[in-house]
Amino acid sequence: MEPPVRQTHARRDDDGAIRATDSDAALARLSAVSKHYLSDPFIKSFVSRPHLQQPRPPLINIGTYVRSEGLDALVDQWLELAQADGTQAQVVSLGAGSDTRFWRIATGPRRDALRAYVELDFAENTIKKAMAIRKSKELSAVLGPPENVTLAGGGTTLHSPIYHLLPADLRLPPSEVLTPLLSTPTPGSSEPLLSPSHPTLLLFECVLVYMAPAASSRLVQWFTGYFESGVLGGLIYEMYGLEDNFGNVMKDNLRARGISLPGVEPFTTFASVQSRFAQYGFVTSHALSLREIRRSYISPAERERISQLEMLDEIEELELVLEHYAISWGVQLPQNKDTLKARWDTWGLVPYGPAKGV
Ligand SMILES: C[S@@+](CC[C@H](N)C(=O)[O-])C[C@H]1O[C@@H](n2cnc3c(N)ncnc32)[C@H](O)[C@@H]1O
Repeated sequence: MEPPVRQTHARRDDDGAIRATDSDAALARLSAVSKHYLSDPFIKSFVSRPHLQQPRPPLINIGTYVRSEGLDALVDQWLELAQADGTQAQVVSLGAGSDTRFWRIATGPRRDALRAYVELDFAENTIKKAMAIRKSKELSAVLGPPENVTLAGGGTTLHSPIYHLLPADLRLPPSEVLTPLLSTPTPGSSEPLLSPSHPTLLLFECVLVYMAPAASSRLVQWFTGYFESGVLGGLIYEMYGLEDNFGNVMKDNLRARGISLPGVEPFTTFASVQSRFAQYGFVTSHALSLREIRRSYISPAERERISQLEMLDEIEELELVLEHYAISWGVQLPQNKDTLKARWDTWGLVPYGPAKGV
């Protein structure tokens, strides 16, 4: 049984400020693309007047680049492992905002690896995203023939053969919110939207920080229960260790915008981030700070290319910022399935050898 969650929680005044963090993420990505750190032909369709947006400072662009490279590599590897297992994977992106990952995968070399790609966010954000998708020929074309794409829920919900955009407040009891959306058959089908037997990756990119730890645990628990006899991966990107001066300044700035970060509180140290998925009961549990990913997990050729893009005076400042963000990941596997374990245990970032200075 899940402990009761007050319904009033869903309509707190600061929800608008939390939803608006999506624009920050989209603008940061647009900036990194415009400065050639990343390539993403789809992000401009999710930003209003993209050509008028000011680029972000180099430090932010590098952070966006490192975050994106780390997450992309792990998602790609998940899809590759599923293919090597002779099956297709599912991805569930929670608090997806304006993320373009589905379009990048669906137009890339792993397009055949996806069985389903599900995005969840507040209804106010999914309605905006559904509108942006309908408005853009480029985005719509990737979803499949128009007759196979349907809008529902007053425009807050979009279904296509593989991609599904769904409204949900992730803090509410999962049995009320997720069960009807993900585990009951979709209209016109006898299958649930999410198959419990396909390897499924949960992606939490900068979202759990806005939720109380108890609500995050409950959310993850719903998925671990649903995928009890299947393969489930978890991937989290967010801040940690915000007890120092840097963290206090960040929290003050966000507080001034009406945003608090209850989800970051248990994660005061890197070790606490590393054991996060173990705490959720997963069999593997790993983490790397963005600082470490930049130092040792980006190829030397890429590091060289990135260093040429913009002048960056303060490497120490960059490292301080990157040290406060981490990517953590883990896998839950059914018991006594050694062959599955041998394959899925290998999921993780691979270093390029020892760090050679910065
Ligand atoms: C910082 S943005 C990140 C967007 C996207 N994941 C990315 O990294 O580009 C945080 C997103 O999480 C969503 N979010 C935060 N709390 C949520 C909740 N309780 N239920 C649903 N979505 C939530 C926000 O609406 C927003 O779109």
